Amino acid sequence: MELKVGVIGTGAIGKEHITRLTNKLSGAKVVAVTDVNEGSAKEAAALCGARVEKSDKDVINASDVDAVIVTSWGPAHAASVLAAIEAGKPVFCEKPLATTAADCKKIVDAEIARGKKLVQVGYMRRYDKGYLQLKEILDSGKVGAPLMIHCTHRNPSVDASYITSMAVSDTAVHEIDVLHWLTGEQYKSAQVLFPKSTSLTHSKLKDPQIMILTTESGIVINLEVFVNCQFGYDIQCEVVCEKASIKMPDPLFPSIKMDAEYSTAIETSWKRRFIDAYDVELQDWINAAKAGGAAGPTAWDGYLVGLGSDALVKAQETGKVEPVNAGPCPSFYR
Ligand SMILES: NC(=O)c1ccc[n+]([C@@H]2O[C@H](COP(=O)([O-])OP(=O)(O)OC[C@H]3O[C@@H](n4cnc5c(N)ncnc54)[C@H](O)[C@@H]3O)[C@@H](O)[C@H]2O)c1
Repeated sequence: MELKVGVIGTGAIGKEHITRLTNKLSGAKVVAVTDVNEGSAKEAAALCGARVEKSDKDVINASDVDAVIVTSWGPAHAASVLAAIEAGKPVFCEKPLATTAADCKKIVDAEIARGKKLVQVGYMRRYDKGYLQLKEILDSGKVGAPLMIHCTHRNPSVDASYITSMAVSDTAVHEIDVLHWLTGEQYKSAQVLFPKSTSLTHSKLKDPQIMILTTESGIVINLEVFVNCQFGYDIQCEVVCEKASIKMPDPLFPSIKMDAEYSTAIETSWKRRFIDAYDVELQDWINAAKAGGAAGPTAWDGYLVGLGSDALVKAQETGKVEPVNAGPCPSFYR
């Protein structure tokens, strides 16, 4: 049986997921789409032969829609996800689950009250081969306990609307999720340092930033976010453990010897860097949603990212070490 999917929000990633689902993955078909921009919804509908609905509720409550993908703007996510839970339909929500931890918590509470895991959050790095390799080594126990994690998240450039807080809410959220998954730990504190800014930024964006997170057991994570680095899209992760240091592999490019130089290309696009992860992530969701449920990052994981993210944004403003306090993971999510 094919999973009939409704898509809410048909901008850049909405259209990408529709194309992925229509042309690449198996077991699902987009039957309805909506967007506050009707022109965009019509374009998306043409990609997959779906109909256009007027609102998110019309998509969610349509009798032929089995499951929902939410790819609207972050501030609109919570309302659509809550409506999908109320309708009892599996929902894949692009990151962030909601723009505040308080709204993420409402989703957690609604899902627990419904008594069934229906929500998957689009933190696709958990499906990336490099991170999976790191996790396999860490979980084997042969390297001892992780002590420190050094990460970089560098983009060549960002557009003028990208401001200081977005280094957390748009960018670091991926590390906040994937490092919680890698270590199996919740966060305890958050801090942000601002090194000398690049001259290639603007007045509303402090760039680069160093974000420091500590976990329950005391692992210290330092994350460099540098979104105007110019040279490439560069994601690094090195986990220093008691007996080993493990570095995530870089994407493979051929080495070129030419004109007395030996060079290797660097990835420049986040879409290409994680393209396989998006495919595996969405196929995993289709398979789980067909069985009426969800896979991958849960609403609780989305809430933990919300808490980490709120603490880092506060730390950007106060310059202090800010606490992160999630409390115990509910048994529903264990
Ligand atoms: N996982 C990832 O790596 C990744 C990558 C890109 C974007 N995203 C996330 O996906 C979401 C969408 O990002 P994007 O780049 O496609 O943005 P976008 O601006 O291109 O598209 C968002 C679309 O949502 C529509 N929209 C807004 N509010 C709506 C509502 N209430 N109902 C219906 N439609 C609504 C807008 O009109 C727009 O067409 C964001 O939350 C973003 O953070 C995740």
